[in-house]
Amino acid sequence: VNDTEGKRVVATRAEGEFLPHHRDPFRLLIESVQDYAIFLLDTDGRIISWNAGAQRIKGYAASEIVGKHFSNLYTAEDAKSGKPERELDVASRDGRFEEEGWRRRKDGSLFWANVIITALRDPSGRLYGFGKVTRDFTERMRFVQDLQRAKAATEMEVVERTAAERRLRESERSLRELSARLVQAQEEERRRLGRDLHDSVGQYLAMLKLSLDLLDRESQGIEGQSRRHITECLQLVEDAIKEVRTLSYLLYPPMLEEAGLSVAIQWYLDGFSKRSGIETAVQMSVPVQRLPREVESTVFRVLQEALTNVHRHSNSPVARVNVSVDKGVVHLEVHDDGIGMRGDGSGSLMDAVGTRGVGLRGMAELVRQLEGTLTLSSEPGKGTVVRASIPFAEEKHSGGSR
Ligand SMILES: Nc1ncnc2c1ncn2[C@@H]1O[C@H](COP(=O)(O)OP(=O)(O)OP(=O)(O)O)[C@@H](O)[C@H]1O
Ligand SMILES: [Mg+2]
Repeated sequence: VNDTEGKRVVATRAEGEFLPHHRDPFRLLIESVQDYAIFLLDTDGRIISWNAGAQRIKGYAASEIVGKHFSNLYTAEDAKSGKPERELDVASRDGRFEEEGWRRRKDGSLFWANVIITALRDPSGRLYGFGKVTRDFTERMRFVQDLQRAKAATEMEVVERTAAERRLRESERSLRELSARLVQAQEEERRRLGRDLHDSVGQYLAMLKLSLDLLDRESQGIEGQSRRHITECLQLVEDAIKEVRTLSYLLYPPMLEEAGLSVAIQWYLDGFSKRSGIETAVQMSVPVQRLPREVESTVFRVLQEALTNVHRHSNSPVARVNVSVDKGVVHLEVHDDGIGMRGDGSGSLMDAVGTRGVGLRGMAELVRQLEGTLTLSSEPGKGTVVRASIPFAEEKHSGGSR
């Protein structure tokens, strides 16, 4: 209101009422604001003004609510607990109260409100009422909630995925360890079998052959069935001896340690050809200096496994072996012209055949441990190629460091 000197002052409750000044542009602005409920309370909390935004947000027309206590705008629970009054106390003590919380509309529905209550004081400091600004933040609150839920869900997914990945890595690792141990166990078993075959079965067969030779000599001159049987037995025992030697040779190979890779390979191939009847051709370009011990032994074991497979599975009359060293990587290839093999259409050939035995899979693991690769290529009727490439640190092992 304007006082007698025409100075604009705000009326106080003590003077009886807040008088709307219909010409005040600021007041007109406030009254027309739609997005904010802006209204005044007297010191007791009774509503004494109401703008368009308040009507829009709360649902009451000015005529329905002006003069009523502002606790009508709270939930029944809050109103009963004295929350509205407490808020006014805080506002009058601190000058201002702000919160977000549920408020009630005229139709009883709730909305999420951002509320600011400001204490209004005259120049002498006397409280004459409160200004209240309320915004409807329901949408925003839902949006934030959705966002939080989405974030929580994503975090959960990440946690679950990480756990699943960890389990997968662990099981892969234990599978690798298992195949490495299998290879080791297999190696020991093979050595034992090879030795036993050679030392025990081999000796029995040798004695059997001696006896048969004796029998053969003693039965010179005898004609007929018995003699034919003896000749047959001799042939069989010779075959058996040859087979046992081949097997034990394959199972219990010559010492690589002393001989070095190229010598050991040449020696092994000669023995392999002689005993298995499989013709071998070898091409080697291996430097004179020795490769790291584990690289040499892995190359040799892959060769052994590949040749043993050629002998056992391929029916091939020949095996071709290539060994070369290029840029710090040693390459081994073993080709055969045998029956070949088929994948199961999914995954690699190694995945398909790796379940039939542990040989190839174990070799692949040995090679992998040296950061190399072992691959198979084969087609039914078109032979098989086993390729291994193993890197070695040249500088560490060259120049007579061994
Ligand atoms: N050169 C080959 N020609 C044809 N089939 C082969 C050849 N090499 C391997 N295979 C097939 O792949 C399978 C897997 O070979 P792998 O060496 O892993 O096991 P295995 O020889 O059967 O048994 P082991 O564990 O004693 O080596 C073989 O069983 C065989 O069917
Ligand atoms: Mg095998």
